[in-house]
Amino acid sequence: MCGIVAAITNRNVSSILIEGLKRLEYRGYDSAGIALLDDNNKLIRVRTKGKVEVLEQELKKQPLSGKIGIAHTRWATHGKPTTINAHPHFSSDRVAIVHNGIIENYKDLQQELKEHGYICTSQTDTEIVAHMLDFFLKQGSDLKQAVQKSVKKIKGAYAIVAMEQNNPHQLIAFKKASPLVIGVGIDENFIASDAPALSIVTNRFIYPADENIIVLDDKSVQIYDKNDKLIKSKIVDYTFDSDPIGKGGFSHYMEKEIFEQPATSEQTLEGRISHDKTTIDISNKIPDEILKQVECCHIVACGTSYHAGMVAKYWLEQYAKIPTSIEVASEYRYRSNIVPKNTLYITISQSGETADSIAALKKAQNESNYLSTLVVCNVEQSTMVREAKYNLITRAGVEVGVASTKAFTTQLLTLSILTASLAKLNNDFNEKEFVESLVQLPLKIQQVLEQKEQINKLSTNFKHTNSMLFLGRLTGYPIALEGALKLKEISYIHAESYPAGELKHGPLALIDESLPTIAVVMFEKNTDKLLSNLEEVKSRGGDVYIFADERLKLTEDTQTKIINIPAIDNMLAPILHIIPLQLLAYYVAVHRGTDIDQPRNLAKSVTVE
Ligand code: M6R
Repeated sequence: MCGIVAAITNRNVSSILIEGLKRLEYRGYDSAGIALLDDNNKLIRVRTKGKVEVLEQELKKQPLSGKIGIAHTRWATHGKPTTINAHPHFSSDRVAIVHNGIIENYKDLQQELKEHGYICTSQTDTEIVAHMLDFFLKQGSDLKQAVQKSVKKIKGAYAIVAMEQNNPHQLIAFKKASPLVIGVGIDENFIASDAPALSIVTNRFIYPADENIIVLDDKSVQIYDKNDKLIKSKIVDYTFDSDPIGKGGFSHYMEKEIFEQPATSEQTLEGRISHDKTTIDISNKIPDEILKQVECCHIVACGTSYHAGMVAKYWLEQYAKIPTSIEVASEYRYRSNIVPKNTLYITISQSGETADSIAALKKAQNESNYLSTLVVCNVEQSTMVREAKYNLITRAGVEVGVASTKAFTTQLLTLSILTASLAKLNNDFNEKEFVESLVQLPLKIQQVLEQKEQINKLSTNFKHTNSMLFLGRLTGYPIALEGALKLKEISYIHAESYPAGELKHGPLALIDESLPTIAVVMFEKNTDKLLSNLEEVKSRGGDVYIFADERLKLTEDTQTKIINIPAIDNMLAPILHIIPLQLLAYYVAVHRGTDIDQPRNLAKSVTVE
């Protein structure tokens, strides 16, 4: 998946495109490029391997100037991250293209084009689109017609923006199951993979539908449906945070985002708790008439959002007594699902743009007999929020670090409120007690964050570690999974997570003095069993690092280190227990000197399958 930005204006677009790319790096950052039509209508471009800052430096050495241009930041799917594979791709030096997504039949199309004399110089699935456009242009089509003819031949989920030397006043774009948003300006127009990429130039946006052809010039935006009928579209106004991408004095975005969690939790709660702090209310977002009918929940998500869904499964079954299943979107979308009567489909996504989660949501809406669909999402303008019938916005603010932190805790908080809303309709759930704990949560998160020095010191133990084991039971298990994921993503240390009861069914064989075990120990009925599992680890020579509820009053010994976590209502404990594991992963990565905000091989938003 990649980031696209394009502009047509009456000023030099170079810096607009670079600023846009910087805001799109969450979609990929292994190579970048920019192409403009200069004042003589000649196509000019610069492409570099590495992040957008490398491209920016290169542009200082060889500045480009033009009033129309396209740019791209890449996350390689086909072909290594090299300059030659970086976008924009050209054909015959007269047409240029940027592309996000995957062209599934590119090999067949490549073969067809070869017969017409087109030879690809890159290993990408993109370059054939440039050649196909050139082919149709040579046959007499204009650029819009060439795009229309090309997209009829292409299979896959993708978005493209094209420009042509002989047509210096138009950009043509197309999207199919891949995001694109049009930014409307005054005597200038833009298009990008998402709205924040254009926040420096406009706050007026049009969200085109799938399979629309978009024709942009500096004065107008024209959108055509797949029958080539001109369609009307709504302009949406959106105000951005004043500085959504600043680090605010922290060394990394991830660090800033971890430390923002007391504030983001408060934001999530705002307006959802009554003034006297006794009741919760989300009926303005999802009506009680719907909630009352829910007899079953299917939760579908990916990555960290999937871990939030795992916690919610425990909650919904324990507190709301609603049978709940949880599944990763990439599996759900391809298997046959049985949907019991009155099932609510719940999907969770930070970005709202994850390709597998979008496809799963569409499947749930189109093919299955769900009571309704609900998305728990951080991005109000996202595809998933637009697609789902109901939404609960998590309000974490822009999350830049690839490793999700504040998005996760606000997802959990939102899901806890959803659980409580269902629980109070179904049985004698103690709402007042729950709300009291909710109100205390931001302060308790702050108390955990204040242990940063202690956790930093602990993290030095793992600077040269190759592998780690994370254990938990009940809701502590998804928290252990999430802690292991954080460590893997940013420190590149192999980490595995198990429900502690599974230890003796295999993983115990791994234990020796070189494999540290991290344990998530909450205050609940199975704590003794988990502590016994940890004894089994110690008696085989393993060291254990226990993140334990302070009420347990655990003590240290030569093989045991303890970090105490403040006591909180059982239901909210997972939200508190992930915080020290986020800090641990962060500090380990700092000591190992990895690229914390943009770890290798990853991207913030996974918009391809
Ligand atoms: O935007 P989403 O929540 O749908 O993204 C899902 C995953 O790609 C995401 O959570 C990923 O696992 C993060 N890098 C985890 O830190």
